[in-house]
Amino acid sequence: MKKLLNDLGQNVAILGTQWGDEGKGKLVDALAPNFDIVCRSAGGANAGHTIVTEGKKFVFHVVPSSMLHASPIGVIGNGTVVSIPDLSKEIEELEQNGLEIASRIKLSLRAHIIFDFHKKIDAELEGRKGDQKIGTTCRGIGPAYTDKISRMGIRCEDLLDTELLLEKITQNCEFHNKNLGMSLDSKHEFDIVMEHREKIKPLLSDTRKFLNDAIHAGKKLMFEGAQGFFLDIDHGTYPFVTSSSTGVGGICTGLGVPPKSISGIIGIAKAYTTRVGSGPFPSELDDQLGEQIRQAGGEFGATTGRPRRCGWFDAVVVNNSIETNGIDAINLTKLDVLSGLPEIKVATKYFLDDTELFTVPTTRKANRKLKIQYETFPGWEDSLGQCKTFEDLPKNAQAYVLGLEKIIQTPIRAIGVGQDRNDLIFR
Ligand code: GDP
Ligand code: IMO
Ligand code: MG
Repeated sequence: MKKLLNDLGQNVAILGTQWGDEGKGKLVDALAPNFDIVCRSAGGANAGHTIVTEGKKFVFHVVPSSMLHASPIGVIGNGTVVSIPDLSKEIEELEQNGLEIASRIKLSLRAHIIFDFHKKIDAELEGRKGDQKIGTTCRGIGPAYTDKISRMGIRCEDLLDTELLLEKITQNCEFHNKNLGMSLDSKHEFDIVMEHREKIKPLLSDTRKFLNDAIHAGKKLMFEGAQGFFLDIDHGTYPFVTSSSTGVGGICTGLGVPPKSISGIIGIAKAYTTRVGSGPFPSELDDQLGEQIRQAGGEFGATTGRPRRCGWFDAVVVNNSIETNGIDAINLTKLDVLSGLPEIKVATKYFLDDTELFTVPTTRKANRKLKIQYETFPGWEDSLGQCKTFEDLPKNAQAYVLGLEKIIQTPIRAIGVGQDRNDLIFR
């Protein structure tokens, strides 16, 4: 681990390279003791980042996944969208486990608030889309970002002036009621935020200034990505995406730090692919094998409990993420899940009407016609639970990792071999 961190420099970003749930939380937790500050820059409680230690499972939603360790400060940046009651409850639940959380979290005054009405609008719009629905987490993410971009959003700084807060909530509820024919109740919305305001107010600060001062003072920062690059609002499988910039650009805008402050980037990639919700998934295994991988990998959403769709590793997806984000090294996760399969495939190229494509096509028609080229690797029988070094892995598992490395032309510097926080091999 030390060698990897030395190679990556002072401030390191952790980004999902697929459709989310790659295992970002586990690596953030593993690296956290080496950092002073761990930051979330985008998304909200649509994220579910899991850490398993001594058989106990912790799922982080908006709070950075470093908090099981005593030292790092957690920052929730201006680019995030935050439900005040949900954040308050997340902190409370963690504190019930004897952890010191509230005094170590800084929440940007500029982060936008997700109100209960955003969740209602999320569910309402999904319902209206019928079989075209995105399959959102219904956490109000899209509607909150829509208000932000429409320049009618309500920010955490508005918690400081309750008269103005009520005025803005009333205006927004009236606007949405008129446009969507809903009956959102502004008084109810105001009351639930007020219930948790006192708990959240002390967390608020100018996080941009705090982070830039820390960078200049030589502190070490980790940027914890949320979602995955193929859920990015620009580069993902639009419209089946989330509403934020999940790539490296989102770190700079979502925290107010310069691009050159990010000295190294680790991409997280599952040894196969999963996706929750609707949208194209070229290497999907919509069959018994997909079900087998789902069961072996426990592929059920950390936030919503929904079964995740499963498929083979898709190198077109991961290569696109590596190229666009400048990823230096990969953490390949859940290699153990593939134990017992007779053979393992990797999607290496896409062709549409004999033309090679370098991203996932977005229309149903193009996806139906898409020709996928696969490379096949022999499987292995043994479970990987006891493997502590790369050399401990079965020969075919080693060959799979080396084969992937060649296809994605990026070093695989960490390998997940089990769910526990210690089931991680560095090389
Ligand atoms: P995140 O959103 O990227 O942090 O990932 P999630 O927590 O949503 O989903 C990853 C799931 O895989 C969680 O249940 C993790 O505990 C689990 N996990 C992470 N790495 C490994 C691994 O190497 N092997 C196994 N078996 N499970 C893992
Ligand atoms: P982490 O950080 C997996 C997916 C949803 C849906 C789409 C839009 O745990 O990897 P949204 O609620 O954001 O409007 O939903 O994006 N999605 C995720 N899928 N992991 C996530 O986060 C996700 N966050 C959003 O399932 O398809
Ligand atoms: Mg997740």
